[in-house]
Amino acid sequence: MAKTAQQEINDLILEIRKHDYQYYVLDDPQVADHEYDLLLRKLEKLEAANPKLVRADSPTQRVGGKALEQFGKITHGAPMLSLANAMNEEEMRAFDERVHRFAEVAEDVALDYFAELKFDGLSLSLTYVRGELVAAATRGDGEIGEDVTQNVRTIRSIPLRLNTKTPPEKIEIRGEVILKTSDFESLNKNQERAGIKIFANPRNAAAGSLRQLDSKITATRPLRAFFYGYGVVEGFSLPPTLAEYEDLLKSWGLPVGTWRMRCAGVEEVIQFYRGIEAQRAELPFDIDGVVVKLNRRDLLDRAGFVARAPRGMIAFKFPPQKSVTLIEDIQIQVGRTGALTPVAIVTPVKVSGVIVRRATLHNQDEIDRKDIRIGDHVAIQRAGDVIPEVVEVLKDRRRGDERKFLIPDFCPVCGSPVEKPEGEAVARCIGRNCTAKLKERLRHFVMKDALNVDGMGERIVEQLVDAGVVKHLSDLFDITKEDLLELEGFADRSATKLLNALDAARTPELGRLIFALGIRHVGATTAKALARKFGSITKLSFASVESLLEVDGVGAEVAGSVAEFFADPEHAEEVRELLERVTPADVALPSANGIFSGKTFVLTGSLATLSRDEATRLIEDRGGKVSSSVSKKTDFVLAGTEAGSKLERAQALGVTVITEADFRSLIGG
Ligand code: IVH
Repeated sequence: MAKTAQQEINDLILEIRKHDYQYYVLDDPQVADHEYDLLLRKLEKLEAANPKLVRADSPTQRVGGKALEQFGKITHGAPMLSLANAMNEEEMRAFDERVHRFAEVAEDVALDYFAELKFDGLSLSLTYVRGELVAAATRGDGEIGEDVTQNVRTIRSIPLRLNTKTPPEKIEIRGEVILKTSDFESLNKNQERAGIKIFANPRNAAAGSLRQLDSKITATRPLRAFFYGYGVVEGFSLPPTLAEYEDLLKSWGLPVGTWRMRCAGVEEVIQFYRGIEAQRAELPFDIDGVVVKLNRRDLLDRAGFVARAPRGMIAFKFPPQKSVTLIEDIQIQVGRTGALTPVAIVTPVKVSGVIVRRATLHNQDEIDRKDIRIGDHVAIQRAGDVIPEVVEVLKDRRRGDERKFLIPDFCPVCGSPVEKPEGEAVARCIGRNCTAKLKERLRHFVMKDALNVDGMGERIVEQLVDAGVVKHLSDLFDITKEDLLELEGFADRSATKLLNALDAARTPELGRLIFALGIRHVGATTAKALARKFGSITKLSFASVESLLEVDGVGAEVAGSVAEFFADPEHAEEVRELLERVTPADVALPSANGIFSGKTFVLTGSLATLSRDEATRLIEDRGGKVSSSVSKKTDFVLAGTEAGSKLERAQALGVTVITEADFRSLIGG
């Protein structure tokens, strides 16, 4: 009998899924790309002719839907934790000792470890209900992540349906999304050709690709993923070991790492680590170490948690990779606070998979100490996110024509004198009207955590300053459409768009505005804390050092820097001008007669409905204080699940311990 259309569709879906599995999970494709494309097109045609027969888990349904305005939030069923690090073999052996103790295993018994790669990407949690992919979320703060379901559906290596007849009722499957180094490089080449921002490293590129509001863009990025973990599991009993769990994931059609090993005892772990490190440069993607886990889940549970990390797992990190290159020139970069930073322009070289062209030399003392000269061969290293730095000069490769470098006495941008206070390493341009400084301050002012002016990129900042349209921060809000139309690249529509974005920035949260001012040492979190304490810029500008020191996270350095900032008449003038143009949203000041007035709280464990920041805010808004350690002076310990030593200490000291529900009823629900 001839097949029905539905049967034909079902068979095609099965066949395509089998090829996806061969390709992405087994790394062993059975058909050529064009044959695969033919199958996909055949399916598309059939579905177009029979729209009622289109299945949600059909490979044609990976891309679709409109671009989002913003991501929704997903509360993880079980928190996404982090890992403690071991930086060398000694720390690894210490970990093994600790694990013996906490898992209550005799010292002379070799523990069964499961070791695998530590993928340098971003973590992802998939939720499958009765075998069907229903949600995907980023880690977020570990409790609540961003809903990236639409984007994740476009990742071909992630099955829309688990390949099993007996799936769990519900399971959260955790892993890491990455971009292969080769894919990262071609992506950057395309970005460069199109004149758009290039990514610093594969991890940033993977994050940028996954966090696209338009899933059609994500679909063009060849993201990969590897899975290894679980969160909530319902209606299913997991196998007793992690190795078996990964085998199960693989059988369900999810990609798991190929380089993984069961190790009997810590010495075998170290062998595995050394072996991987030796091959690291040849791996097709970035890794930053290996992850070592107790293989038995019962022992993992018994070992418990410290902070937000399981005690029975550790990230055994690799030292940063180094490469040798030549310093072709040294240039000066002038920062937001006028700091002059010497930057080495080097012959492009690959460092752990990424091409590096510049490396920071920090300051003159650093140059002198390492005796770095133009023309030197140097070893540079890239450690995680930070800008690569020069670690060592290869002096035996000198030929005698290398040139010493001295930071100039005058700013290379504005010609003003450069000052280097006694005892400080950093030289600063003291020019009031230095355009380099202004550009950096503006860039900071409009960035995401500050006033978040959409569409105001680096190039526009440059243009506005170079054309003399913006001479002070406040001038941003006086820009007219005519000003913009004079600049290259602006048309009516783009000018209107930018003006609208600037308008939207006129009512910032106070904390953002404080951060935006670019006060030395004041990051986004400190700025928020300052906003909560003082409630207005004016009050902050008159704050005494003593009252500044009362703010959580503010020490002498920060307090001094805030006071100094507002003591400068030019800054005071600038803030006045700004406040004529922007109106920060009011902050409710913690009231002296709030219900928690004079009370000290300590938070511990993970709360089900509140993040730490939220709980802190609720307490501070009511006049209370949050402290990080329990003492006799603590009034309340707010304990969530997996509360550790703080809870024990509270009980020992007789401090009142309250649950989240108690807390909610205290604050009135
Ligand atoms: S297991 C308790 N295994 O590293 C968290 N994590 O530094 C479970 N990561 O948030 C982690 N590769 O995103 C595990 N093979 C691997 C990993 C891995 C990368 C990430 C993960 C985690 C972070 C912690």
